[in-house]
Amino acid sequence: MHAKELSISIKREAKNGKFQVATTIIFSLSITFLVLVLGMIIHDHFRKFVLYEDLYFSHLNAFPPFYSSSVTSQRQCMQQCKCSNGVNELKEWISPRDLRHSMNDEELLWRASMVQRIIEYPFNRTPKIAFMFLTRGRLFMEPLWEMFFRGHEGFFSIYLHISPEYVYKPSKSSVFYNHQIPSKPVQWGRATMIDAERRLLANALLDFSNERFVLLSETCIPIFNFTTIYSYLVNSNKSFLSTFDDPRPIGRGRYNKRMWPTISISDWRKGSQWFEANRKLAIAIVSDVTYYPVFRNHCVPPCYMDEHYLPTLVTKVCPNLTSNRTITWTDWSGDGSHPTMFMRKDVTEGFIDKIRNGFSCTYNGEMSSICFLFARKFHPSTLQPLLRIAPKLFGFKA
Ligand SMILES: *[C@@H]1O[C@H](CO)[C@@H](O)[C@H](O)[C@H]1NC(C)=O
Ligand SMILES: *[C@@H]1O[C@H](CO)[C@@H](O)[C@H](O)[C@H]1NC(C)=O
Ligand SMILES: *[C@@H]1O[C@H](CO)[C@@H](O)[C@H](O)[C@H]1NC(C)=O
Ligand SMILES: *[C@@H]1O[C@H](CO)[C@@H](O)[C@H](O)[C@H]1NC(C)=O
Repeated sequence: MHAKELSISIKREAKNGKFQVATTIIFSLSITFLVLVLGMIIHDHFRKFVLYEDLYFSHLNAFPPFYSSSVTSQRQCMQQCKCSNGVNELKEWISPRDLRHSMNDEELLWRASMVQRIIEYPFNRTPKIAFMFLTRGRLFMEPLWEMFFRGHEGFFSIYLHISPEYVYKPSKSSVFYNHQIPSKPVQWGRATMIDAERRLLANALLDFSNERFVLLSETCIPIFNFTTIYSYLVNSNKSFLSTFDDPRPIGRGRYNKRMWPTISISDWRKGSQWFEANRKLAIAIVSDVTYYPVFRNHCVPPCYMDEHYLPTLVTKVCPNLTSNRTITWTDWSGDGSHPTMFMRKDVTEGFIDKIRNGFSCTYNGEMSSICFLFARKFHPSTLQPLLRIAPKLFGFKA
């Protein structure tokens, strides 16, 4: 019996002890919680106070208080600074200084297709020519172009599309420095080539001062000086994009019946890849969403998209905007599907003069002997002789 009573009293005491431990734990937990809540309230009050101080100071002086580490207050001040610089924002909008951007092609083309409805510009607009270079690598005619552009800053823009598989970084002193646009791989004759041309146009359209857009390659050279080329293009009321109906297998023969009904055989055109477009035509090209997908799906070699897409598109959507001829001379007289590549021994004054004045065509409705402003294809070895005859070529006094 005694033993039983003893064991019961021991159990009771043990229970009491447990109870005491539990009470102690709950009590200390509550205290901790209270302290935490109090701490948070105090901290919040303190932050509000600091924030208020920052705002107060930023009204007094235009600069953010440098002793503040509060991110929120800095952000608020940055917003303020932006608003007070509205003029810079228009400048940045009409003529982006940095050609780098993170837009993808879809975003870029959409942005470039914007047209203002107020015709008068609220700023002094000097029309510029956008020289768009689509190259496979190094621009080996760089010294000739340098000579061509020198002294004409403000009248031209340069855009460089170099396939990313080639490495070419123009030196800091070059006119081509920092003129590379975000580029993608290009396959000759395929849709990726048209993508590159549209990418060049779209990037150039972002600058509202660009009025004329010329596509060039690394083998192209100018055959007149800047002033002559500038006035020829800026004063022309048509663009220079060649388009013609070629009944041969290398023309109509490349038409694919699956393009019907979007494109019929009577719409089908051929032309030189090397075009010049005014702003209106450039916008029509970047905003095409009707014909481009049909070409991409159904014009694959031996149908070369660069020879058919733009000529057909322009004939469909704005035939009056082009004079139907190109201003980039190419020699197709040799046989084969490639034009002649000129070498060092070919380059003489007489040869260049023949391209400059040996043709006749219409310009603004009148006959003209100046039909070509650029020529191709020139091998890197022609650079030295070209530099030698440049004074004559560009009409400098030697
Ligand atoms: C374009 O050509 C059509 C006739 O083909 C003519 O009616 C129209 O006025 C022309 N537009 C412009 C801007 O020249
Ligand atoms: C160019 O060709 C199209 C048809 O392909 C024609 O409508 C247009 O009038 C031509 N333009 C000129 C300037 O000859
Ligand atoms: C534009 O071209 C037409 C012929 O197509 C010509 O008659 C007219 O004079 C030109 N306009 C200007 C301003 O040069
Ligand atoms: C540009 O070339 C033309 C001939 O095509 C010439 O009359 C003119 O003087 C040249 N301009 C300059 C600045 O050299």
